[in-house]
Amino acid sequence: MNPIYEKLAGCYESIREKIPLVPKTALVLGSGLGGYADTDNIRIAGTLDYRDMEGFPRSTVEGHKGRFVFGYVGEVPVVCMQGRVHYYEGYAMSDVVLPIRLMRLMGAETLFLTNAAGGINTDYRPGDLMLIRDHIAQMVPSPLIGPNLDSLGPRFCDMTDTYDAEYRAILRETAGKAGIPLQEGVYIQFSGPQYETPAEIRMARTLGADAAGMSTACEAIAAHHAGMRVCGISCITNMAAGVTGEKLSHEEVQETADRTAEQFQKLVTAGILAINGRA
Ligand code: HPA
Repeated sequence: MNPIYEKLAGCYESIREKIPLVPKTALVLGSGLGGYADTDNIRIAGTLDYRDMEGFPRSTVEGHKGRFVFGYVGEVPVVCMQGRVHYYEGYAMSDVVLPIRLMRLMGAETLFLTNAAGGINTDYRPGDLMLIRDHIAQMVPSPLIGPNLDSLGPRFCDMTDTYDAEYRAILRETAGKAGIPLQEGVYIQFSGPQYETPAEIRMARTLGADAAGMSTACEAIAAHHAGMRVCGISCITNMAAGVTGEKLSHEEVQETADRTAEQFQKLVTAGILAINGRA
C-alpha cells in the first residue's frame, strides 16, 4: 500500500475506535483563533490530542494547541483542528495535510479554513477579515506530489473553483446580515517561518496576492483533491512587510487575532450554519 495512505488509514482506525461522531464540516483554526473551540461556539462531544495518535504530526507553535475537537455547531456535526501543522515545522507536505485527509475520511464534506495573514492589499487594515477567493501556492511544494492517492482523488486535479463559489456567496451574505465587514481576495502561501521581505511582498502584490501567510493553500489543495467543498477566511493581523515600514512580530499577530476574535467567531458560526442550510 502507498505509505501515505497506510499512515492515514492507521490514524483513521485509531480515531474511529474512540470517536463515533461523523462530522459534516471540518474547521481549521489558525494562529490566535484556537479559542473558538474553548467557548460555547461548539457543544463539545469529545477531543483527541494529536500526540495520542500514532504517526500524527504535532503542532509545535506557541499559541497553537494540538487537538481535534468533535462536537456540534448548532445541529451541525463538526470536527475542528485546534492548532494546525505547518510546513515550516519540518514535516513533509504529505504530513502537513494528513489531518485534512483524515477529516475527509471521517466523513467531512466541507472544509472551513481560517488563518492569520499579513495584508498585502493597501486597502486592507489590521483587524479586517478576508474571504479567500483564490490562492497562489507555487511558493511551497504541492501536497499532491508523489504517487497519487487514487481512492481520494485524481492525479491531475482541476483547481478552477477551489474556494467554492456558492459558499463564498453564502459567506458574503452571512457577513452582510451580521454587519461584519468582509474583504475578498487572493491568499499567497509562503513557506515561513521567517516573515517575508518587502521585496517578496512587492512580488506577491504584482502576482495578484492580497494577503500572505504560511498555511492554508496546501490544505485547500488536499481537500479539493479529495472532493471537499472548501471555504476560507483570513484575519489580517498586520500589514505585510514593507507596507507600512513597521517591523512584524508574532506578538502583533496574536494581539490582533485576539482583538478580532469575537467578530471572527461570530462569522465562523454563522457561516457554518449557513453553508449547512440552517441559517
Ligand atoms: N506573513 C506571513 N504570515 C503571516 C503574516 C505575514 O505578514 N501575518 C500573519 N501570518
